[in-house]
Amino acid sequence: MTFCSQNHSKPYLCKKNQVMTALSAFQLAILKGIPEELPSSKPFDSTINHAPRRKDILTTEEKRLALKNALRYFPVKHHVVLAAEFAEELRAYGRIYMYRFRPDYKIYARDIETFPHKSKQAAAIMLMLSNNLDDAIAQHPHELITYGGNGAVFQNWAQYLLTMQYLATMTDDQTLAIYSGHPLGLFPSQKDAPRVVVTNGMVIPNYSKPDDWERFNALGVSQYGQMTAGSFMYIGPQGIVHGTTITVLNAARMQKHPNYSGGIKLLITSGLGGMSGAQPKAANIAGVVSITAEINPKAAYKRHSQGWVDEVMQDVDQAIDAALQWKEKNTAHSIAFLGNIVDLWERLNERNIDVDMGSDQTSLHNPWAGGYYPAGLTYNEANEMMSDKPVLFREKVYESLRRQILAINSLTSKGMYFFDYGNAFLLESSRAGADVFDTNGRFKYPSYVQDIMGPLCFDYGFGPFRWVCASSDAKDLDTTDLIACEVLEEIAKTAPNEIRQQLDDNILWIKEAKKNKLVVGSQARILYADAEGRIKIAAAFNNAIREGKISGPVVLGRDHHDVSGTDSPFRETSNIYDGSSFTADMAIQNVIGDSFRGATWVSIHNGGGVGWGEVINGGFGMLLDGTEDADRKLKSMLHWDVNNGIARRSWARNKEAVFAINRAMESEPLLKVTIPNFADEDLIQTFF
Ligand SMILES: NC(=O)c1ccc[n+]([C@@H]2O[C@H](COP(=O)([O-])OP(=O)(O)OC[C@H]3O[C@@H](n4cnc5c(N)ncnc54)[C@H](O)[C@@H]3O)[C@@H](O)[C@H]2O)c1
Repeated sequence: MTFCSQNHSKPYLCKKNQVMTALSAFQLAILKGIPEELPSSKPFDSTINHAPRRKDILTTEEKRLALKNALRYFPVKHHVVLAAEFAEELRAYGRIYMYRFRPDYKIYARDIETFPHKSKQAAAIMLMLSNNLDDAIAQHPHELITYGGNGAVFQNWAQYLLTMQYLATMTDDQTLAIYSGHPLGLFPSQKDAPRVVVTNGMVIPNYSKPDDWERFNALGVSQYGQMTAGSFMYIGPQGIVHGTTITVLNAARMQKHPNYSGGIKLLITSGLGGMSGAQPKAANIAGVVSITAEINPKAAYKRHSQGWVDEVMQDVDQAIDAALQWKEKNTAHSIAFLGNIVDLWERLNERNIDVDMGSDQTSLHNPWAGGYYPAGLTYNEANEMMSDKPVLFREKVYESLRRQILAINSLTSKGMYFFDYGNAFLLESSRAGADVFDTNGRFKYPSYVQDIMGPLCFDYGFGPFRWVCASSDAKDLDTTDLIACEVLEEIAKTAPNEIRQQLDDNILWIKEAKKNKLVVGSQARILYADAEGRIKIAAAFNNAIREGKISGPVVLGRDHHDVSGTDSPFRETSNIYDGSSFTADMAIQNVIGDSFRGATWVSIHNGGGVGWGEVINGGFGMLLDGTEDADRKLKSMLHWDVNNGIARRSWARNKEAVFAINRAMESEPLLKVTIPNFADEDLIQTFF
C-alpha cells in the first residue's frame, strides 16, 4: 500500500511514496476492510426505515448452509460469537445482514479525493456506491437496500467492507468481479477494461421465481439489484422525476376526459417511495394537481420534509376536496394521502369524481415482501402477516387488487385515462383474477412505455442520461447544467421536426432543474437526451474538465430504464411487437458492447422494476477526467449504448426507430444496420 507523504490539503494515495500521512479515520477504516478485531455489536436503530422481516423459507439444512456461507468472510477465531449472532439475525429478519460490521463513519458521496485510492476510476465507483447507501438516499440503509423494497447494493456489510478495500487498493491494471454483492476478487486486466464488472441475480432461467430469490438471497448467494441500486447509479428520486415529468406531461397532452373543460388536470396515483416519490414533484412540474396515496407514514413524511410533496392528509375526503379546490384555482399542487390507495380509488368512484389520469406505483414487482399493502390491514398488521401467514397475506393482496381494479375500471368507463407504471400492476392484478383484459386477451390499459415513453423517447434514442460531479461541489453542477443546455440548444437549431418537442421539453427541464431543487445526495443531474445529445454533452464536459472550468472529474451513467439497456416485456420493451419482447439479447449485447468500448464499470441484472425473472437489465458508469482517453471512450461507448437499442427497435418495425437509425447511419459511415422491409397486411391475411 503506497501513500503520499506530501502535505496535500486533501489526503490521498499516490503511487510513488511509501509513507502514510494525514489519513483520516474514514480512510483508515476503508483500507482496513473487514477489521481483524470484532467491532462492538450495534443496537438496532428504530429511527431508521428498516426492511420488513423476510420470509422464513430455508430448511434447517439450508439455514446451516446460510450460516456457513456468512462465516466464510471471517477468521475462525470469531466464529463462536458471530455464529450465534448471525443465526439470530436469520431468525429475526430472515437474512444475515451482519449489522455489527456497519461502519461508524457516515456513508455519503464525498469529494472523490477523500476516498483512498490508487485508481481514480475506482474512487469514482466508491463515491457512487456510497451515495446508494447514504441514509438520506437509501430506503433501508442498514439492510443495504437503496430502493424498490429489495434493491440491494450488497447482501451484507462484510461485502461492503471488502469491496471498499478492494476499490481503494486496486490499480488501473485490475478488474474487480462482483457477484451479486460479493466481491470475488481483483483480476489482472488492462487500463481500457472496466474497473468493475457487476452481475446481480443472474440465475439459471428455470430458477427465477420469486421464492427462488427469497431462498438464494437468504443463503447469501444472490441478490436483487433492482436497476441502479446494484449498479451504483442511483441518484435519488431526481433520477425518475424527469422521466415521470415527461410521462405525466405527455399523458396530459394526449388525453382528455369527456367532461374536460380546459384548465388543469387531476392525477391519482400511489407510492412515495424511492422512485414513486418523484410523482408529486413531477406532477407539479408538469402543471397537474395530484393525489398520491402512501401507506407508510415514514415514507410520506420523508418526501414531505424533502419538499417532494406539498402536503400530507390523513382523511380521504379532505384530500379529495383539497385537490378539487386546487383544480378550481387552476394551480398545480400535490397532496399525499396517508392511507391505502384502494380506499382512495373507491372513494373517488363513490363520489363520482372526474379523474383525468390515473396510475399506480406501489412495488408490485415485489408483492409478497412489502411491495404492496392490501386494503383493510394497517401497515403494521400487513408487515406481520406477510412473514407469519404468507398464504393469507397473498389472498389479501389479490383481494385488494381486485377491489382496486374494480374502482379503476369504473372510473375509466367514465373517461379517465389509466396507464400501468411499469411496476407489474396489471400483471399482478391479472394473476389476482381482476378484470384487466380486453376482448383480444390483451391488457385493457397500456403501459406508459407503450403509449408514451416508447414511441416518443426510446425509439428515437432519448433516455435518462445522467451525470455526477465527483468534486461533490454544487458549483460544478451549475456549470454542467449550463454546458448541457447550450449543447441541446445548439442541436435544436437543426433538429428534424420528429424530435423537436422532445428537445424543447429537455431544454426546459435543464433550465429549471436547479430551481426545482432536485439534488439529494451526490451532485447529480438527469437529462433525457438522444445519442447525439449524450455524446456532445459528454465531450463538452470532458473539455471543460481539461480547461479547469469544472473542478473535478464527472461520472456519466444512465438509468437501466432506457433505450438499449433493458429487455422487459411489461415495460421497456412493451412497445416491441414482433414477438421478440421476451428475448434478452439486447440487454446482454449492450453490457458486453459497453464493456469493451470504454465503460468504467458495467452491470447486468436479473430483476429490476417489474420483478425477479421478469426482466434483464444493465447499465454502465464512465469517468470523465479531461483526458484524450476519456474522449475516445465516450464517443465509442455512448454511440453503441444508444444505437444498439434503436437498431433493435427498428428491426421490430417501430417506425420512429427506423427513422432514428437511418439518421444515425447518415452521420456515422461505420454504422451499417439491417433495416426491415414492411410486409403488406392484406397479403399476410390471405394466408392466415
Ligand atoms: N417511476 C418510474 O418510471 C418507474 C420506473 C421503474 C419502476 N417503477 C416501479 O414503481 C414501483 C415503485 O418503485 P419505488 O422505488 O418507489 O418502490 P418503493 O417500494 O420505494 O415505494 C413504493 C411505495 O408504495 C407504498 N405502498 C405499497 N402498497 C401501498 C398501498 N396499497 N397503498 C398506498 N401505498 C402503498 C409503499 O409503502 C412504498 O412506500 C416499483 O415496482 C418500480 O419498479 C417505476
